[in-house]
Amino acid sequence: MASNTASGPSSGAPSTPGRIVSEFSSRAREEQAGGWSALWDSGQGGLWDRGKPSPALVDLVESGTELIPKPDGMGSGGRRPRVLVPGCGKGYDVVMLALHGYDAVGLDVSRTGVETARVYAAAQLAAPEEYNFARPEKYAACERGRVKFVAGDFFAKDWETECCSGSDDDDGGFAGFDVIYDYTFLCALLPEMRKDWACRMSELLSPSGVLVCLEFPLYKDLKLLGPPWPLREGIYWNLLVAGGDGILQDEDAARAAAQSPSSGGSFGRLGYIKPERTYEASRGTDMLSIWGLNTRGRSQSGR
Ligand SMILES: C[S@@+](CC[C@H](N)C(=O)[O-])C[C@H]1O[C@@H](n2cnc3c(N)ncnc32)[C@H](O)[C@@H]1O
Repeated sequence: MASNTASGPSSGAPSTPGRIVSEFSSRAREEQAGGWSALWDSGQGGLWDRGKPSPALVDLVESGTELIPKPDGMGSGGRRPRVLVPGCGKGYDVVMLALHGYDAVGLDVSRTGVETARVYAAAQLAAPEEYNFARPEKYAACERGRVKFVAGDFFAKDWETECCSGSDDDDGGFAGFDVIYDYTFLCALLPEMRKDWACRMSELLSPSGVLVCLEFPLYKDLKLLGPPWPLREGIYWNLLVAGGDGILQDEDAARAAAQSPSSGGSFGRLGYIKPERTYEASRGTDMLSIWGLNTRGRSQSGR
């Protein structure tokens, strides 16, 4: 995502708002999805395009960590772990995950975005780029999972059944995802939508599933407008662990929120990792956070 800035006398930012900020500056909550579709339909889907999957996620997947379900043998009932990437855009992460053996679903509210992702996926599955792997010698030949792209609104439920149809354990019901990966999706949403984002994440995960967030943008002045809306560790913690609304006005509040007690929210943090590799756009500040539902019934501190 381009680093859009809001104009403002005290922001120290350029006086012209970025193109994404301009698209959304006068859109109310119910018009947000239309804003994303308008950008895609007018050929501006490249404004936030990083051109490759998240290096931090590639490394996490190939690390063999116990923090996330592994394709080889984890899936309950012997199936491959099922992953959702909401706000998937062109689908870089969806394809990369499938190339590593996950059954991956990309969800995007824009039909044009979904069509773009399908074209991208077809090309990659035929001839994957090297950027999909950190260690191609070990992973390039592994058994692939399925790729599916679904057009739908993350906050609605009407796409849930469609995203599971055709899978090994398809019994017509929706069983939840084993992993959900968020990169530049939370920051794409109006701050007033954050609490619903957290609630929806808890509904969409299977009881033992994990939410993986590549936290971005952690460097952006909290007073600036989005998308991308500025985020902090404390905002994620407030939303997921403390059960707050994730709207924190300044750095002091964000710092304090990151230290607040673990109660009120649906999640505990399982891990908090400074990735060795990530996109340059993060200015070296991206963090990977991994969250599990409290119903997992195990100790989750992750500080
Ligand atoms: C900033 S882009 C990020 C795309 C992708 N994660 C990437 O890194 O390239 C945000 C994406 O979320 C999609 N989006 C926004 N609101 C959505 C919603 N309510 N449900 C599903 N997708 C949404 C947009 O169409 C857009 O493709």
